[in-house]
Amino acid sequence: MANETQMVTMEKIISLCKRRGFIFPGSEIYGGLANSWDYGPLGAQLRKNIKDSWWNFFVQSRADMFGLDAAILMNPKVWKASGHVDTFEDPLVDCKNCQSRFRADHIDEEWKTVDFRTQACPNCEKKTLTQPRQFNLMFQTAIGPVQDTGNTVYLRPETAQGIFVNFKNVMQTMRPKLPFGIGQIGKAFRNEITPGNFTFRTLEFEQMEIEYFVRPQEWEQQFEMWLSQMHAWGKQIGLDANKVHDNNIAPEELSHYSKRTVDVEFDYPFGRKELWGLAYRTDYDLKQHQEHSGEDLQFVDQATQEKFIPHVIEPSIGVDRTLLALLLSVYTEESAPTAAGESDTRVVLKFPPHIAPYTVAVLPLSKKPELQTVAEPLFHELRKYWNTEYDETQSIGKRYRRQDEIGTPFCVTVDFDSLTDNAVTVRDRDTMKQERIPISQLINYFRDRLSF
Ligand code: GAP
Repeated sequence: MANETQMVTMEKIISLCKRRGFIFPGSEIYGGLANSWDYGPLGAQLRKNIKDSWWNFFVQSRADMFGLDAAILMNPKVWKASGHVDTFEDPLVDCKNCQSRFRADHIDEEWKTVDFRTQACPNCEKKTLTQPRQFNLMFQTAIGPVQDTGNTVYLRPETAQGIFVNFKNVMQTMRPKLPFGIGQIGKAFRNEITPGNFTFRTLEFEQMEIEYFVRPQEWEQQFEMWLSQMHAWGKQIGLDANKVHDNNIAPEELSHYSKRTVDVEFDYPFGRKELWGLAYRTDYDLKQHQEHSGEDLQFVDQATQEKFIPHVIEPSIGVDRTLLALLLSVYTEESAPTAAGESDTRVVLKFPPHIAPYTVAVLPLSKKPELQTVAEPLFHELRKYWNTEYDETQSIGKRYRRQDEIGTPFCVTVDFDSLTDNAVTVRDRDTMKQERIPISQLINYFRDRLSF
């Protein structure tokens, strides 16, 4: 029986991602662009499966949720009202000797009271650090051919504000009752001082955010409900629950809009760090937008005609960090002796079947045309239902290993017996058990195995 052996490291994940087409360095043929990453064929499908699963779990299957897809570029007044122009800042420390840049709070948690001029630089160890200065994280660009202060716009640093500015539109078009929520998936951008750790902290990333509008007196109960829903979804997509932890953020560390935040953290190989956030944003954002825009953003209770600004619970989930934490959760190495009895290691990504980039791989035993006449129509039939790959290169053993490494739950092998018994061998990724299944029953067989 195979047993699990080695620890997962970032090096192993980064190398597997490149080798198997999950994640490539951005702009690679031009020498790359620091901290930018491109998702390859497998990564793009995995991202899509994660986003589909999120949408399905948090939006489609709930009667109290509505979807939205707002623009990335918004009127700059939005960011003044939200507080991002004035307070979305990190403390930046420069080293005058080696030119390295650091976040002051990453060097010392007590950064507000520290004299950095007397501290050694974490890179060159010289005492040449500057005092911290605040650095706004929003990326700026300009509308039109001439750049001046009148046409500055920002790439959104969070998708949330697109939801708040459409609160009235959604209320008027959908006529929801409280509590209700609006969810959206989209890109966000932050000019991070210290990006790094692969896709953990990047300049461009994607968020899946919900603003859930509640009556003020029910915020605590709704907060707990959302925290448990986030954990339930994490389990459903295959995150290792033992590596996921809640961290209640101390009052003095809260963002400008939050009265309570729980960071859902993950045990990455580089430490326990934030995976997702859950914040109680009170009525801060809607109040700010009401004041700055002059629009009435109150909710009107149709039954009682009561008018008030609802409070907000915000479950915020990053696609990229989820994908990274998922790879780290499902990566396994097992000792699996070869047919010749030699010791070997099998790398398996144990994704739940609905999240795996490919669900099924069709593998004709050889390239002989008579096998293709069975395998190809079968491949085309299966791909109507599930993401299916066709692979006839290399030995069957090597092809199984490749499918294990990209996490395909089922391999279907067409062999010479298939020509006469009209059956194929189905191999289970996790147990490596093989079953002979009649081709006519294959779709139903997978339907049963894939229902969750
Ligand atoms: N609307 C609330 C908000 O944006 P946040 O904690 O700043 O809160 C939410 O971000 C989530 O977005 C994080 O928990 C993380 O998953 C993801 N995220 C934030 N900054 C990121 C970055 N630079 N790179 C990758 N993901 C990031």
